[in-house]
Amino acid sequence: MRKVDRIVILTGAGISAESGLGTFRDEGGLWAQHRIEDVATPEAFVRNPDLVHQFYNARRAQAADAGSNAAHVALARLQSEFPGDVILVTQNVDGLHEMAGAAAIHMHGELSRALCATCEHRWDAPLSMETGATCPACAAPTARPDIVWFGEMPYHLDQIVEALQTCDLFAAIGTSGQVYPAAGFVEEARMAGAATIELNLRDSDMSHAFEDHITGLASVTVPKWVDQVLAGR
Ligand code: APR
Repeated sequence: MRKVDRIVILTGAGISAESGLGTFRDEGGLWAQHRIEDVATPEAFVRNPDLVHQFYNARRAQAADAGSNAAHVALARLQSEFPGDVILVTQNVDGLHEMAGAAAIHMHGELSRALCATCEHRWDAPLSMETGATCPACAAPTARPDIVWFGEMPYHLDQIVEALQTCDLFAAIGTSGQVYPAAGFVEEARMAGAATIELNLRDSDMSHAFEDHITGLASVTVPKWVDQVLAGR
């Protein structure tokens, strides 16, 4: 196996499932409880901002009460102990990677941040946001959750693609591989000659694209995988 100097990791909702945060597409998940077009698009926010704030206020409160689990802690350990680069990209908007001591690139935004739709100023969101809240920078009543909604461009893509094109190992953890561009990251990494591994409870839509797979609960499989990587296996 080629020497691993740079690892890129992509995490999805599955890594936070054992912290009590619901995933989107598992049985009874968030998209079984809410229609995406009602709570997670710019059009939804224009049509019914109260409903959108209500959806994110509930998730913000839940995330604020959640604790990181052994999988988050293991990735933080990998970042601090691995002699090369460990670039952690997350689709998750909770702060559980940071709570465990890791640095994560939030490509879908963060529940803990607010964004002004007028001047694009960002600030720490209050636990509960309401319609018409004003921006602390321009005073426009256009504060919104700093979340990337369907139809909007994910954040930090240039930085992420550059990392994928120069990595030796790509791991996807707890993601169904159904939403692009994240679902395409494995192909980008493979084209760069990286080894690829998927850690999930079950097969995902992108399982076919990964060389290796570890099946099981992230809180069990991720710490074991991190031990293997740190031991150079
Ligand atoms: N351990 C490991 N994997 C798990 C666990 C667990 N305990 N629980 C669930 N999973 C896996 C599921 O098998 C599934 O593949 O996590 C994945 C969750 O998939 P989704 O609910 O689709 O979440 P995700 O892939 O993060 O969604 C991507 O879609 O709705 C948008 O913006 C939203 O960021 C989200 C994106």
